[in-house]
Amino acid sequence: MTLVAGVDSSTQSCTVVIRDAETGALVRQGRAPHPPGTEVHPDAWWDALQAALEQAGGLDGVGAIAVAGQQHGMVCLDADGEVVRPALLWNDTRSARAAADLVDELGAQVWADATGTVPVASITATKLRWLAQHEPEHAAATAAVCLPHDWLTWKLRGTGSLDDLVTDAGDASGTGYFATSGEYRRDLLARALGRDDVVLPRVLGPSEDAGTTPGGVRLGPGTGDNAGAALGLGAGPGDLVVSVGTSGVVSAVSPTPTADPTGTIACFASATGEYLPLVVTLNAARVLDAVCALLGVDHAQLAKLALSAPAGSEGLVLVPYLEGERTPNRPDATGAVHGLTLATSTPAHLARAAVEGLLCGFGDAIDGLTAAGVPAQRAFLVGGGARSDAVAQIAPALLGLPVLRPTPGEYVADGAARQAAWVLTGGPSAPTWSAADTETFEAEPQPAVRERYAQVRDMTAVRLA
Ligand code: XUL
Repeated sequence: MTLVAGVDSSTQSCTVVIRDAETGALVRQGRAPHPPGTEVHPDAWWDALQAALEQAGGLDGVGAIAVAGQQHGMVCLDADGEVVRPALLWNDTRSARAAADLVDELGAQVWADATGTVPVASITATKLRWLAQHEPEHAAATAAVCLPHDWLTWKLRGTGSLDDLVTDAGDASGTGYFATSGEYRRDLLARALGRDDVVLPRVLGPSEDAGTTPGGVRLGPGTGDNAGAALGLGAGPGDLVVSVGTSGVVSAVSPTPTADPTGTIACFASATGEYLPLVVTLNAARVLDAVCALLGVDHAQLAKLALSAPAGSEGLVLVPYLEGERTPNRPDATGAVHGLTLATSTPAHLARAAVEGLLCGFGDAIDGLTAAGVPAQRAFLVGGGARSDAVAQIAPALLGLPVLRPTPGEYVADGAARQAAWVLTGGPSAPTWSAADTETFEAEPQPAVRERYAQVRDMTAVRLA
């Protein structure tokens, strides 16, 4: 039996799955945590990958490995391949001003047409602009720029040569200097960093070989975590992937790109040679964590409380912008609770308002995608927050779609493993593995709840001095 390994180097942890290349059956797995914070030295990801691999029994019998990772993180290397400064992650908002400046300079439509995305603080290019402005010595020392998954693939390759840096279109498309048409836009890189003479990873095709590890294991090109999840779930036309993780993401694999000048939809590439229009929010699973802490309950109790309150929480609305927000682009926003009365001042109402607020944010995201012509027939609900029965049961009413909850799994790492198997088979498409078991949730849409949420969301958009 030939095995393949898939890695998910996410914001919070590193997960390794080892699967049978032919059937996809899970053979072994491992996991190790990442440090908290939005600025992390890449060495911590390498240490976590080693620990997770060790827990997964190492690479014995593994023919190929691929890495999927958190998108956008800025990893700067000097001419010797040393990390110049800790990476700024996708959820680090210090480059919000730089993002606004870059958009003002060229106009939102130009960015959307060129790259599929109007830059926000998450996008790598804005972090490079921030670096050039605030740490010019680090910008000057930078000889290569890559993304978290590119860097880990390069470390696995082990040559230390900047010429061996590789990436794929799925992750490159989140940099802000990669065109929807599939090549780097060095002019946009220069606009951000002030120079364009840095090494950028070579962009490989979806199943192109990225060399081998020193031990002879073949390397896949890897991809961004959202593209990895879509590949792991085998999402097809009409399927949305709704991921309630550290970030909230709604994505869809599409044969055609979008170019949304409002910035609601970011159009990345998929891991299969198509496009991956998606909407990302900064506030997802951690909203549930925060409300659990507020109420002094665990997640199961929070779900029970939420399901015990009436739909709409009798007018209590929670706007979940606890970490600022990216979509809509409100980096300085805070959360809000509106509609408190004696009747709604109960833990159950607050719990329900939190779940509904979270899901209304996803509902807004789906509206944006369908308005751009992305077909939506059903939604796969994944990520840590999907384990909540309240989220799963309330979701179809607020997303307006049947919701399929796959058995909890490591869909990003699975996507990477499937890519590794594809590298081995070399076929025209990724090998077919049996689909995950799913539980289906359906409910009548509740437009009144969405409407009230929208009113409070926009009312609280006003920033107080
Ligand atoms: C996508 C994004 C997040 C990260 C999380 O644009 O910023 O989903 O990829 O890891």
